[in-house]
Amino acid sequence: MHGKITNLRKCRKLTQKELAKISDVNIKTINRYENGIKISFRSEKKILEALGIEFINYRNINNERNKVSFDKQAEEYEESKYINQKNSILQLINKGYPYTGKKVLDLGAGTGFVSREIAKFAEEVYALDISDLMIKKIDVLNKKNNFKNIIPVKGDAHNLNFEDNFFDTVITRLTFHHLKDVKKTLREIKRVLKNFAELIIVDIITSEKDEEADLQNSFDKIRDFSHNKFLKLNELKKIIKEENFYNAETDIWKEERVFEDWIKLAKYKDEGGVLFNIMKYFAINGLKLGIDLEYGESELTFKQKMVLIKVINIK
Ligand SMILES: C[S@@+](CC[C@H](N)C(=O)[O-])C[C@H]1O[C@@H](n2cnc3c(N)ncnc32)[C@H](O)[C@@H]1O
Repeated sequence: MHGKITNLRKCRKLTQKELAKISDVNIKTINRYENGIKISFRSEKKILEALGIEFINYRNINNERNKVSFDKQAEEYEESKYINQKNSILQLINKGYPYTGKKVLDLGAGTGFVSREIAKFAEEVYALDISDLMIKKIDVLNKKNNFKNIIPVKGDAHNLNFEDNFFDTVITRLTFHHLKDVKKTLREIKRVLKNFAELIIVDIITSEKDEEADLQNSFDKIRDFSHNKFLKLNELKKIIKEENFYNAETDIWKEERVFEDWIKLAKYKDEGGVLFNIMKYFAINGLKLGIDLEYGESELTFKQKMVLIKVINIK
């Protein structure tokens, strides 16, 4: 971690003197910390927080109940078959230029599932997420899996705290549909990405038919209110073009979802089976809603359309 502090400070365009001022830590202590010399927890906490990093003092985590619950959640997310899809991750990895020696941003990293695959090749992976809990999980899993080149960063995709031309590649999986403003995020990605560098977006897309798209988005909002909107492929492509990225490659595939697993992932309790019954009604009446909705043997299944878009950043 210490070796990365100088990088992070520079990336936030701060001199040691400025960092000393905003963190309220003596400049000599900052210098010692950047050189890997042990400093007090109090100072370390102040420095990391001034750099926008969540400080976790593992020696103080003694509440076993919290720990069990935290581990359980991390494992649940990691083990969800919709997140932990080796094939789709490998597809993502193989689509990129070789990551060897590259500086990569994983935007909306979640627990860092994609980051850890990329980190096997890249020099550094900055795993950025807006959620404190996710950042903590990444940190825990980094230690568990002995990854030293994944840097968890708490931040907002709409306002990236990195200097211009900092990254060789940006990847983002299943995050775009959470964003309030995809265009603003693309502008930020453009700024922090080097010229001719690549951005890989993987996300769920809807049917091209308005009514089907609206229904898909409505079902998803009931299940997980943090979702903003799944885009249609044409909408996504249009936005990418408007923000001056060159669309190099597009792959589309479908992933099967079983209703029970799908709601569990978002911890949604479908009390009274309200959502289930609405979707079942469509299914038994042969309305597939652009997602191959089906009902049989008490099970509701459907297929979500996924897209992988690789674009080149031309400034
Ligand atoms: C469905 S998860 C995907 C996680 C990971 N990319 C993966 O594929 O396993 C979406 C993640 O995006 C994060 N997120 C949502 N809005 C964000 C924002 N504005 N800035 C950064 N991260 C955000 C969420 O906290 C969540 O961890």
